[in-house]
Amino acid sequence: KRQPKPDACIGCPSYYAGEGFVPPLFGKYYDRLGIILIGEAPGESERDCLEPMCGPTGSRLRKWLAPAGILLDEVHIWNTVNCRPLNNREPDKQSQEVCYAKHVKDFISRHHPKAIVAVGKVAETTLIDQKHTGRGRVYPYRGDPSIPVIPTLHPSFIMRGGWKFLPTVISDLKLARRNATSTVYMTPSVESLEASINALQTPPWPPNPECVVFDIETAGED
Ligand code: URA
Repeated sequence: KRQPKPDACIGCPSYYAGEGFVPPLFGKYYDRLGIILIGEAPGESERDCLEPMCGPTGSRLRKWLAPAGILLDEVHIWNTVNCRPLNNREPDKQSQEVCYAKHVKDFISRHHPKAIVAVGKVAETTLIDQKHTGRGRVYPYRGDPSIPVIPTLHPSFIMRGGWKFLPTVISDLKLARRNATSTVYMTPSVESLEASINALQTPPWPPNPECVVFDIETAGED
């Protein structure tokens, strides 16, 4: 069953031409990490499953979170334009601006992200108020310059033959994670690791708002 389009969307070309409104995907442990991923627009699968990034392209991105040390449950996901654009085209600039002003801006300010990942050019140009951008760097979010935006490549580009850039996407996601994570607990000994695990088993878990990272290595003979 398709979502009705909100009346607030009047004035957006994708409101008239599009086929339904896809709501955000909320990670249930979002508070652990506080990262929001913003993609381009829903495709046919997203229109039908009513979740961003659930189709063949978006689900790749979901899978690439794990190698960057991010759980799907620790992020919220939405798109720059949240109705599927007509003929599955790149959403026009007006739809991008209207959807940002009427939905995405409020969504971001309500959830106080520690970092935003802009997935692809459409998200990047909508969320960053700067003419020249490029990946591998952090930019101020246009709605609140204290929030870092990390641009990355769109999974459709990777899947259309750009596989050699997959490590780039993973390193962008890691950069977002580093920006969102303020505290790193080192675990120099097994005893302190055990103590940390015991502490973490006591609610509230994990200690909000930090994210806990264990970097475990086994010692060699020497
Ligand atoms: N699916 C989405 O929801 N967004 C994208 O940008 C790509 C696929």
